[in-house]
Amino acid sequence: MTDAPVADIDTVDGRYTFDNTTSEAGRQVRLLAEILDSHSTDVLARTGVESGWHCLDLGTGAGSIATWLAGQVSPAGRVVALDADPRHVATHELIDVRTGDVTTIDLGKRTYDLVHARLLLMHLRQREQVLRRAAAALNPGGVLVISEWDCTHLDEMLLRGPADLAEAFLAFQNALVGLAADNGASANWARRVPVAMRDAGLIDVEAEVHNRLWAGGEPGCLLHASNSRQLQTALLARGVSPAQMETLRDGMDDPDTLSWSYPMVTTVGRRAED
Ligand SMILES: C[S@@+](CC[C@H](N)C(=O)[O-])C[C@H]1O[C@@H](n2cnc3c(N)ncnc32)[C@H](O)[C@@H]1O
Repeated sequence: MTDAPVADIDTVDGRYTFDNTTSEAGRQVRLLAEILDSHSTDVLARTGVESGWHCLDLGTGAGSIATWLAGQVSPAGRVVALDADPRHVATHELIDVRTGDVTTIDLGKRTYDLVHARLLLMHLRQREQVLRRAAAALNPGGVLVISEWDCTHLDEMLLRGPADLAEAFLAFQNALVGLAADNGASANWARRVPVAMRDAGLIDVEAEVHNRLWAGGEPGCLLHASNSRQLQTALLARGVSPAQMETLRDGMDDPDTLSWSYPMVTTVGRRAED
């Protein structure tokens, strides 16, 4: 794959910080699938998802979770994969790919046995309203699964690397999280999801935190480098220097580098039976 054109700062539309039209975004959502799918599918398998279920994946990205769900609900079920720009989703006979803005599109009522959203609501100002509509879209007994990254302890992430990498890494993380916050994202929403689910009327709410070690050259570190390319213009405008960009990308490729992932908080809640 060739390196993507860098997203121009003008393409940042004030709602979602990344831009699926770039090939770098294609790389980003594939890396997310590689990093996170084993955790997500472990949790989803515990919901009891099985043949015949109707599922909805919000902000589906590469569609890897929608594809996994399609395998579970086959042959009688269906999966709707919704994204504002679903160009990176592979086609599948049981997946209905829909283009739409989750903040405005009708999600339906009492329609799905399972709704999943990963790394979506944290980006949206309307996150609590979307969560309530996702809960209302569940059938009685249906399950809502939301996974978000907690981006609040950025200075504790890098475990091993030279001083110039530590400085570049923190400058990059602060600029990225600051940029996303200006676009409406929340760095600490992940830990508030259980309360939002209870407030939306869901029961049996449970949450767990999933944290991984990422070494240089592995998908997690490559994601940081990819994000630095996708948002290069905006990150430079927020004070990351060109030298820091280079140091960051070299460090993310160096197998001696060790970093914690962002902690992923996964929350599961269920709609009560009538
Ligand atoms: C960070 S990616 C996560 C992708 C996937 N859920 C994953 O975890 O691998 C966020 C996805 O949500 C989509 N998205 C962002 N804002 C959206 C909106 N308002 N409505 C629908 N999809 C949206 C983006 O296009 C992108 O594909």
